[in-house]
Formats: sequence, C-alpha cells, structure tokens
Amino acid sequence: MRILSGIQPSGKLHLGNYLGMMKPALELQQQGEAFIFIANYHALTSVSNAAHLRRHTLDVALDFLACGLDPERTAFYRQSDVPEVTELTWILSNVTPMGLLERCHSYKDKVARGISANHGLFAYPVLMAADILIVQSDVVPVGRDQKQHVEVARDLALKFNHQFGEVFKIPEPSIRDDVAVVPGLDGRKMSKSYGNTIEIFESHKQAKQSIMRIVTDSKTVEDKKNPEECNVFALYRLLATAEQQEDLAERYRRGGLGYGQAKKELLELFEARFAPLREKREELARNPDAVEAVLRRGAERARAEAVKTLKRAREAVGLE
Ligand code: ADP
Ligand code: TRP
Repeated sequence: MRILSGIQPSGKLHLGNYLGMMKPALELQQQGEAFIFIANYHALTSVSNAAHLRRHTLDVALDFLACGLDPERTAFYRQSDVPEVTELTWILSNVTPMGLLERCHSYKDKVARGISANHGLFAYPVLMAADILIVQSDVVPVGRDQKQHVEVARDLALKFNHQFGEVFKIPEPSIRDDVAVVPGLDGRKMSKSYGNTIEIFESHKQAKQSIMRIVTDSKTVEDKKNPEECNVFALYRLLATAEQQEDLAERYRRGGLGYGQAKKELLELFEARFAPLREKREELARNPDAVEAVLRRGAERARAEAVKTLKRAREAVGLE
C-alpha cells in the first residue's frame, strides 16, 4: 500500500493539523510505503515573501521529524524538488472541467473571505491531484476539509484513464472520524485563518495562554456542567485516555469543577504529550544540514516514481 500526504508550509503547526493529518499519516507509515511532502508550490498561493516561505519550509521539516517521521521508512521531500508534478498538473488541467474547480469549497471559502482569486488558487486542486497521482498513491490521509480535493484527484484519474488508457491508480482519502474536525479555542474548526489555534511547538507559556483563552459559558464552579457542550472538554477528550475522559466528564456532571481547573488539566495533558517533542525539535533545529540531507534523499526516492509515471502520462497523451 502506498500512502501519501502533504502539508503546506504556510504557518505554525497546530493541534488540528497534528491530530487531523500528521498523526494519522505517521501512524500509516508502519503499514506501507509512505510519501510525505512539504507542499511549497501550494504555499505560493498564500505566502508571498521568499524568506517566510523558506523559513516555514524548514519549520515543517522540523515539525514532522520531531513528531516521529522516520526518514528511513518514508520518503520525505519538498514538493518543488520533484518538479515533474508541475508538468503533470498541466497535462491533468486538460481533463479538468472548470465546473469541478468552481465547486471546490476551499476555493469558494477563500473567495468569500475576500482573498482575491488568481489562477494558482483556482488550479490548486489540480496540482494536488498531480501530487497524489504521480506517485501512484493508494491512500491519502487528510482532515475532512481536504476530502473534496482528494475526490477531485480520483475524478481526474478516472477521466484520464478512460480517455487515454490506464496510467493512474485511483486513490482513496483516509479520514479518521474522531479527529476529522478538531475544534479551536472558540469551538469553530481549529484553523490558522480563524486565529483560534493551539500551536504544538509554542513555548509552555504560550500554550498556557492559548488554553486559558478557550471560550466557555458563564456557569459558576458549583454548577453542574454538560461535558458534551464544552470546548475545553472537546479538546481534552482528543488527548486523554478513556479513563481520564470518564473521570473528568463525571466531575463536570457532578458540579464543583470550574472551567479553570478543566483547562489546567488539559494543559497538563498537552505538556505531557508535546514537551518531549519540543525538546527533540530543538535538537534537530541545531543541525539544519542533516534536515536538508533527509529532504534531498526523500526527493530522490519520490522523483524516481514521479519520472516513471510522468513518462507514461506523456506517452498516453502523445507528447512522446
Ligand atoms: P488551516 O485550516 O489551519 O489553514 P491547513 O488547511 O493548512 O490548516 O491544513 C493542513 C492539514 O491539516 C490538512 O490535511 C487538514 O485537513 C488538516 N487540518 C487542519 N485543520 C484541521 C482541524 N481543525 N481538524 C482536523 N484536521 C485539520
Ligand atoms: N492541500 C493540502 C492542505 O492544504 C496540502 C496538500 C497538497 C496535500 N498536496 C497534497 C495533502 C496531496 C494531501 C495530498 O492541507
């Protein structure tokens, strides 16, 4: 089984990215041949400063390695080190109906938020399809917001294969229901565009500040509370064992537990999970040359696959 996923280097890694995409992708590493990449071509749609893009790219590399990406098992690379994807994007563009792209939620949401659309933003799902199809992926672990894009990749692969002969495998999205939409500090989807995130690699002090900002209702300490309606509990359950969840839920229902206390317990869980990763990341950051070497090696492996697929696609359409 081939597993592929990518993340844009466009901001700091948050709990939604980690639980929704990174952790599931890293767990799948054990079950097959994994390709994980840093989508820096995609990031050009939102990052317009070269130094920022370079910085964010290194950040994502450090994030993944600190969180357990095993570069011996997994091909870990920068998208732009496999330039074949851009050629495949062009080939796929010619089997991409305008209507399919116009229906993409992510594009519509960005336009609705006032981001002025350019061709890169509009064509983004075609580039993503090329990422997926070029290494003949079977499974694509993503958060729910990316499901539609993986479906676009499937549609384009089916259409291409039908028109030109079998070249691409048909990929499946893999979405874990329990973490498909991790809620943010305000209860909406956690997203850097809403400013409601808890960053994984921020300092202990910043993590504490974020957690203390989680929006709660105005019940007093004595009041009985419904854990199912609480933003603090919604995050707690994602990090806690079944026993810990039941224990806290029981104290919510009984009354006598303040939101401040619940937040404190959430912070403890967060720290227990991420403080060791923070240390590992600091260690990796001291040796950027080693990180660079990992990415180059990963690109060689991904490129070997990409070249093969691209050749078949070029032949199928008559470029060769
Ligand atoms: P953001 O919404 O902060 O801009 P991205 O769109 O860059 O995040 O998402 C990167 C990856 O993380 C995608 O696979 C996406 O599905 C996943 N992801 C982002 N936010 C969440 C969330 N709140 N819950 C689950 N998965 C998420
Ligand atoms: N669009 C994805 C995001 O914003 C990143 C991405 C690019 C991706 N290409 C991909 C994810 C291919 C999975 C597969 O998060």
